[in-house]
Amino acid sequence: MYAKYGGSLYDPSVTQIEHALQSAYLAEQEGKDADLIVAALLHDVGHVLMDEHAGNADFLKEDKVHEAIGARWLKSRGFPDEVVQAVQYHVNAKRYLTAVDAAYYNGLSEMSKRSLELQGGPFAPEDAETFIGQEHAKRAVSLRLYDDKAKTANLVTPPLEHFRPAILETLSRAAPGGTFDSCKVEDCELTEDMIATYQRQGWLHMPGFFTVAESEMIRQWADELETWPESGEEWMQHYEWVEPPGSPEKVRVLARSENFMHLHRGWRAVASRVHAVLAQCEGHDMALFKEKLNYKSPGGAGFRPHQDAAAYGKFASSHCTCMVAIDNADSANGCLQMASAVHQQGLSFSTSQIRSGLCCKGMDVLPCGRAEHAARMEMQYGMIGYREICSNWSATEFLWFQTFRIRDSCCSRAE
Ligand SMILES: [Fe+2]
Ligand SMILES: [Fe+2]
Repeated sequence: MYAKYGGSLYDPSVTQIEHALQSAYLAEQEGKDADLIVAALLHDVGHVLMDEHAGNADFLKEDKVHEAIGARWLKSRGFPDEVVQAVQYHVNAKRYLTAVDAAYYNGLSEMSKRSLELQGGPFAPEDAETFIGQEHAKRAVSLRLYDDKAKTANLVTPPLEHFRPAILETLSRAAPGGTFDSCKVEDCELTEDMIATYQRQGWLHMPGFFTVAESEMIRQWADELETWPESGEEWMQHYEWVEPPGSPEKVRVLARSENFMHLHRGWRAVASRVHAVLAQCEGHDMALFKEKLNYKSPGGAGFRPHQDAAAYGKFASSHCTCMVAIDNADSANGCLQMASAVHQQGLSFSTSQIRSGLCCKGMDVLPCGRAEHAARMEMQYGMIGYREICSNWSATEFLWFQTFRIRDSCCSRAE
């Protein structure tokens, strides 16, 4: 984002990225903690998110509340309140400082004085008192002083990458869940054989990718996600009605969670580990597009045969899907199933076919038995060698596959 939009001017002397780096550098030089350094670095992220200044000399004519936009975004990315609130209050910190310190007001640049008027002008004395009594307000005032100084043309500062450890420190402290060491790429190095296998068969299965202890942690993080309320600010919980074996009536259960990665430290560690190996097989860096946790309760529905590529084709030409087994998986509890040797044929189903259910006509009335299912897949789609490669997986295993693979899963017949 900063690479793309950070080059626009912040004021006549510095760009957005220069202003951000100078602010963070000033905080770092004074030995401030990671929260304040990160807040200083990202305090104007709202301007950058809106690309507010680009080619727009009179951007100060309108107050687009960049502090609120930035704070909301930072919160959604999992930053702690110490960072989020400092950013949220950095405009009001100026209103506070100008109210209590005449010398501060006189030292402001003309541009800053102009924006102050737009933002409501100096606080009345009672408002100043209320403001500074709020949690994190003093932190915002410190940030504000760096903000005001960070306007030196051609000042040499460390690059953005320099502040990565501080960002990770604040992120890792903010989110719930434990963590395990994110593996470095060199620790996850794939052999040439593994890469060749992936390219030939369109999937790679890595037993023991997570240790048993890590697998236990992942299971615990899944349990944590399951307890998140139905309506979250960012995450999504999807429910389904199921008829558990032996139950006289349907019950509503959680089917899957989505969009939680940035809100949970443990899941980010999982993603980081997976990310380290993906790039090696794909030959270029990969970005996480979507994460979800499928629960597959007893009686929980399976999903129809489909190709993920049909849905993602418009976003990128190269994508893959990764699966981490949390419990032992087999055909009885509705494990993932994939057709073999079809990934090179491109799209067999169109998105509209998948949406209308045409691609899987008849599949939903099939019994979930392995042999019948395999036979029907073969008959219906002319697939050769339909396999349940994920059958009888233990929970430490990891699989990823190209998104042209046709896959489905049965309903869960687990007790
Ligand atoms: Fe600002
Ligand atoms: Fe600023």
